[in-house]
Amino acid sequence: MTEKVRVAILISGGGSNMVKLVESMSADHPAKPVLVLSNDPAAAGLDRARALGVPVASVDHRPFGKDRAMFETALLAPLLAAQPDVVCLAGFMRVLTPGFVARFAGRMLNIHPSLLPKYPGLHTHQRALDAGDAEAGCTVHEVTADLDAGPILGQARVPVLPGDTADTLSARVLGMEHRLYPAVLRRFAEGDRTPVLLPAA
Ligand code: GAR
Repeated sequence: MTEKVRVAILISGGGSNMVKLVESMSADHPAKPVLVLSNDPAAAGLDRARALGVPVASVDHRPFGKDRAMFETALLAPLLAAQPDVVCLAGFMRVLTPGFVARFAGRMLNIHPSLLPKYPGLHTHQRALDAGDAEAGCTVHEVTADLDAGPILGQARVPVLPGDTADTLSARVLGMEHRLYPAVLRRFAEGDRTPVLLPAA
């Protein structure tokens, strides 16, 4: 049997996307989770990963202040020790330097809660509402040095409904994130870079 693709998942918070990725990597999946890593030692997702039997580690970014390079040097230690083939950012809320990204060129993925190239960065749902958009969604893309701008590996759309707030829209998009990211990871682990386009919810 061929070796499984080793997947490390980086989180900052609750880790609901991480849970869906881990749960998707069942016995017949080409990949397996080898590490869940957080920049916040108190991230709720770390306990969820432990409960799923995945090794966890954390490197608190706060003592490093504005020194992103030093933080990333510390972050690299547990990450490289896990020998990942693929790194999935799943609600990881630190911007990574080009040097860090380059180490994982072509094998680092991110999920973003908008239909990129619309709304890179933060507050995506409020921005979609403010613009009067009829639909919103999420994107999985390859991570490159430019924020939220790498090649798109998958997208899923949801309608914006009358009376939506950023919270209700965010919940609807998150439901699609939970379907999209596992679908993209499976295809990526199979060596197929064709974008996954999920039908509208
Ligand atoms: C998700 O909506 C993800 O798309 C977003 O953070 C949330 C994390 O939720 N990521 C970003 O905004 C990245 N810039 P989770 O911790 O429950 O997976």
